[in-house]
Amino acid sequence: FVPKVLAGRRLLITAGPTFEAIDPVRGITNLSSGRMGYAIARAARQAGAEVTLVSGPVALAAPPGVERIDVRSALDMHAAVMARATTADIFIAVAAVADYRVANAAEHKLKKDHGGVPAIELVENPDILAEVAALADGPFCVGFAAESQNLEAYAQAKRHKKKIPLIVGNLIQDGFGGDDNRLVLFDDQGSHPLTPASKSALATQLVDHIAKLTGSH
Ligand code: C5P
Repeated sequence: FVPKVLAGRRLLITAGPTFEAIDPVRGITNLSSGRMGYAIARAARQAGAEVTLVSGPVALAAPPGVERIDVRSALDMHAAVMARATTADIFIAVAAVADYRVANAAEHKLKKDHGGVPAIELVENPDILAEVAALADGPFCVGFAAESQNLEAYAQAKRHKKKIPLIVGNLIQDGFGGDDNRLVLFDDQGSHPLTPASKSALATQLVDHIAKLTGSH
């Protein structure tokens, strides 16, 4: 039995990496597996939410009852999220969005035998979470901060910079790619370390915390 702490709430969530094309067959991506985001989508659905999962390229099946929108690049993810953000009650940005995309992506496959080493020019991607957080009347926003050190200081700084009520900190040596994770929640009340556990158990705890903060308990 799962208490329906998010009954009827509309949840929008991003997960996975993005893929930024260099040419039709190559690109820049990262090692996000999507597992944490998918676990949260599943937990929120089990808690009664109506869940839309905007997913970068991952090797995972959508959890039962979750609407999945597949995207590839950060710009695709940005468009898919902005089209749905104003009708969501809660937005959780779990995706590891590339900070930069290739400005001069090639229409045809780059060839080694033409004109030396290619120069890859980068341009900054939009910050999806900060943009949703800045919407008047937007959803309750939750971010993730994957850090390799100084978790509390960096996570709280990120929370204030993006103007979001809740950020989930994780030390990347604990989480990326694995089944288990170690999470600390940071909000206006301070820090709430969760007991290290499976991503699915942590997802349920995070959903409960969000339900409390949004008063739907
Ligand atoms: O700024 P940084 O990438 O460290 O922040 C991480 C948080 O911001 C995550 O919740 C991530 O999903 C979100 N983010 C985003 N769009 C970006 C970069 C990060 O939504 N372009």
